Amino acid sequence: MEFSVKTGALAKQRTPCLVLGIFERRQLSAPAEAIDEASGGRLAEVLKRGDLGEDVGATLCLYDLPGVAAERVLLVGCGKRKEFDRARYVQACTAAARTVDALGAGAALSALPALAPNGLDHYRAAREAVAATAAAVYRYTRTKDDKKTPKHPLKRLHLWVAEKGEQAAVERGLQHGLAIAHGVAQARELGNLPGNICTPSYLAEQAQALGTEFPGLRVEVLEEADMEALGMGALLSVSRGSRQPAKFILMHHQGGKAGEKPVVLVGKGLTFDAGGISLKPAAEMDEMKYDMCGGASVFGAVRAAAELDLPINLIGVVPASENLPDGAANKPGDIVRSLSGQTIEILNTDAEGRLLLCDALTYCERFDPAVVIDMATLTGACVIALGKHPAGLFTGDDELAEEILTAGEASGDRAWRLPLWDDYQSQLDSNFADMANIGGRDGGAITAACFLSRYTKKYRWAHLDIAGIAWLGGKEKGATGRPVALLAEFLLRRAGALA
Ligand code: BES
Ligand code: MN
Ligand code: ZN
Repeated sequence: MEFSVKTGALAKQRTPCLVLGIFERRQLSAPAEAIDEASGGRLAEVLKRGDLGEDVGATLCLYDLPGVAAERVLLVGCGKRKEFDRARYVQACTAAARTVDALGAGAALSALPALAPNGLDHYRAAREAVAATAAAVYRYTRTKDDKKTPKHPLKRLHLWVAEKGEQAAVERGLQHGLAIAHGVAQARELGNLPGNICTPSYLAEQAQALGTEFPGLRVEVLEEADMEALGMGALLSVSRGSRQPAKFILMHHQGGKAGEKPVVLVGKGLTFDAGGISLKPAAEMDEMKYDMCGGASVFGAVRAAAELDLPINLIGVVPASENLPDGAANKPGDIVRSLSGQTIEILNTDAEGRLLLCDALTYCERFDPAVVIDMATLTGACVIALGKHPAGLFTGDDELAEEILTAGEASGDRAWRLPLWDDYQSQLDSNFADMANIGGRDGGAITAACFLSRYTKKYRWAHLDIAGIAWLGGKEKGATGRPVALLAEFLLRRAGALA
């Protein structure tokens, strides 16, 4: 999709579709007021008939308004003026995009960013409009002809702003929004691809392709032999039960000064998690193709950073493997030696994510990182604890926690902190190894984070359990692209690109 900014008298704008916000009780927004005036009061008249519902995101399309150059005028319900916040604004933008897309208008001019949603400046209003619109028209078509694709889908959106003075901020919002949208789309696409296409090797190829697209990005892929030589015994033990070779993917964005400590993002890349010998039940096992969404979010964040050429050093790390049952697979009771030297008793082969991550996190020591954040669809327990709205955040570093929570709030891609107290550590005790890979049912998301904490003592670190947020079930089943927006926000702030 393409996006651009426009100013000038609204009624004179030639566009297939002009999008206007309407507040509850037929209250016209300022841009709607202007169109009402130009059309001799037609808007107010139509609204009186009550066809536009009161819900946020309700739509009503009008044709051939007198005195208005636009071919169509799409009215979008925005709810109560006082309550028009970020979330409702995104809802309105999404509804507008879906409607214009289905109408087949091809292009639109939206005055929604001019409504100054509560708490959003012009920069952010533009950024969110772009991200919401791009997400709304995303379609998965790789293995399915989308028969519902209209002849003229929404391809071009102009954002209207009242004053020329706002244009620069809106342009920046648009540029950042587009980069984030591209990152989110990549994460969704990788997540949605089935396990027989999106293998560890496929992820490695996608990383190489990203390196070709952005020549500044240096991509490295370690093979199983390299991992063997390093001593990544935990990671390799998971991969042994699969015919697909594991890949250890590294993406370096060198946007900062040489010698500046990098931000390192690590993402769990289980392209399919059957549970291994501790096999999962059949119901909904297909959803375990999403078990690489942590890795996918690293791809998305790295893409956004590369596209914006952010002046920071960033390294994306994606340990990728399958977890399948096989004669060579891990067996409950097996003991492996991790790259850190610590031994692990594998009491449940389905707790495999932490086995990949512990070796990846130890590997990160060599980067002398400023911070390391890992993203993983790590535990069902996190979904039980927090539901499907926030990611679970775990860190012993209060400042880093604050930074991540703030990035989540600002981007609408929220996280919620859970404790990482030492009280839980003893649940990982093992009689036969330095630790067990599971800690029982109590606090399962926390003991998983405790496990990781034993490999991250040498640097600042936070863990995001994204099992609840990475994909949607039900009718809208699919990957969400979260937490790419949170990560992009975090990186933009670190890069000082928001000032
Ligand atoms: N990938 C799963 C976690 C998961 C489960 C994410 C359901 C989303 C929905 C992970 O590898 C796993 O199997 N975790 C186990 C851990 C347990 C064996 C300690 C779990 O959560 O059941
Ligand atoms: Mn598992
Ligand atoms: Zn898993």
